[in-house]
Amino acid sequence: MAIIKSASEIAKMKESGRIVARTLRLCAETIVPGKTTPNELDALADKLIREEGGVPSFLGYRGYPAATCISVNNVVVHGIPTDDPLKEGDIISLDFGVVKDGWHADGAWTFAVGTISADAQKLMNVTRESLLQGIAKARPGNTIGDIGAAVQKYVESHGFGVVRDLVGHGIGQKLHDEPHNVPMFGKPGKGEKLREGMCICIEPMINQGSWRVNTLSDGWTVVTADDKLSAHFEHTVAITKNGPVILTTED
Ligand code: MF3
Ligand code: CO
Repeated sequence: MAIIKSASEIAKMKESGRIVARTLRLCAETIVPGKTTPNELDALADKLIREEGGVPSFLGYRGYPAATCISVNNVVVHGIPTDDPLKEGDIISLDFGVVKDGWHADGAWTFAVGTISADAQKLMNVTRESLLQGIAKARPGNTIGDIGAAVQKYVESHGFGVVRDLVGHGIGQKLHDEPHNVPMFGKPGKGEKLREGMCICIEPMINQGSWRVNTLSDGWTVVTADDKLSAHFEHTVAITKNGPVILTTED
């Protein structure tokens, strides 16, 4: 069963979501090809989150060692920041969680490092649009399956693969809350019914090739099985009587 939030609770999540969006924007603006490292972005995100009164929720989560997840090229998600400079042509996904006043938000965005290939740009465009297709289904009366089906249909129509092993999730006073399983694939009409006041993270992880992934021996880093590129876009979304409201925005 999902936890239903009041309007004032959702407003608190919106404040955390604003910090996520601001941090994503300001971090992305600092990326210089050949120079910036994921560890520098992690340190900057940590500082930006705290200066807005938030705390990075990933740090220490199940022993996770950094403030952020930074996933480059064939890394799908949960990349642990490194000291390797980003290169022209890379794609980099920044995934940030913020908790403030006890309420969470979680969001991710994939950015281009300098000039990238047309194929990489297409993967990013399709992944971002698939997130919007999924969000459009996040309204009372629809089901969790409607969200996944919309994402999957759009992505597969472009020949890309939807990661199966990792899914979206409910969010609120915990980073991962009920409903625990919000897949980015599925069948229309299946799964739990969406109700007003539910808050969920919708987060397509989309692979250029096969949807299959592996986890590295660090226990975190998820990579594509075929070493092709992967993109990740995520919003925290409240389901309201007027439809979906994206909480991870600055406005
Ligand atoms: N954004 C991811 C998620 O939604 C990352 C959480 S794992 C963590 O699950 F350990 F990095 F926190
Ligand atoms: Co998430």
